[in-house]
Amino acid sequence: MFLLTGASSGIGLEMAKELASRKFDLILVARRIELLVNLKSELESNYHINVEVIQKDLSIITNVYALYDEIKSKGLKVTGLINNAGFGNYGEFTGTPLEDDLAMIQVNISALVVLTKLFLKDLKLAGHGRIMNVASLLSFLPFPYYTVYSATKTFVLSFSETLAAELEGTGITVTALCPGPIDTGFNMTDMLKTNAYKANKPVHPQVVAKAGVDLFLNKKGKKIVGFNN
Ligand SMILES: NC(=O)c1ccc[n+]([C@@H]2O[C@H](COP(=O)([O-])OP(=O)(O)OC[C@H]3O[C@@H](n4cnc5c(N)ncnc54)[C@H](OP(=O)(O)O)[C@@H]3O)[C@@H](O)[C@H]2O)c1
Repeated sequence: MFLLTGASSGIGLEMAKELASRKFDLILVARRIELLVNLKSELESNYHINVEVIQKDLSIITNVYALYDEIKSKGLKVTGLINNAGFGNYGEFTGTPLEDDLAMIQVNISALVVLTKLFLKDLKLAGHGRIMNVASLLSFLPFPYYTVYSATKTFVLSFSETLAAELEGTGITVTALCPGPIDTGFNMTDMLKTNAYKANKPVHPQVVAKAGVDLFLNKKGKKIVGFNN
């Protein structure tokens, strides 16, 4: 089964649909459980696959360990992990609540590192597997007013690239998906007003989801999607 975090909306939701259409069984995680439950019925009836849904707030680190334990105790076998859950907080650094910055670091970085470490040990024992981390175009281009967010995504890209190199030849791949502006709930009102955003017409999440799933299944390195350079 593939474990996908942040599957209740946006890119994660579209990746869940894309993977389901290719007949992969899924474990879907997010906080909005009602959205996951509806998605589970839709995917199971459309594609005749098995979908497990788990509600977790990944900004609380004990929940991330609990997610791993819950998956193991249910006897579910994870052969691939997509760390997609994440959020940004647009605004002047001194103006954003510190607790939001710290929660962002927990979800975008800490949860991703914990899940990668725990599941990678199992993948190594199996001798094969895939991990994909959703980074961002801002991993390459730190963006003012997205100060903490850009830094978290730079971490994600660097972490993915170095881990991929470390795992070369093991049968386990680590991929980084780096979306440009995508038309999801992620983008807040202020961000929509920036010239950078206006100059790069947002891409539909289906487009990035398909590219991401191709990248994940083909075990390729990293890809930028949806940026008109
Ligand atoms: N949209 C863009 O322009 C863009 C560009 C580059 C990269 N990205 C990245 O793409 C990924 C997906 O974002 P999106 O654009 O699809 O935005 P989105 O529609 O807001 O989706 C974010 C997903 O992450 C989950 N999530 C957020 N906080 C969480 C928490 N504390 N615990 C568990 N799950 C949490 C949300 O689920 P719940 O709210 O139900 O918990 C939701 O499923 C993120 O990593 C984002 O940084 C987006």
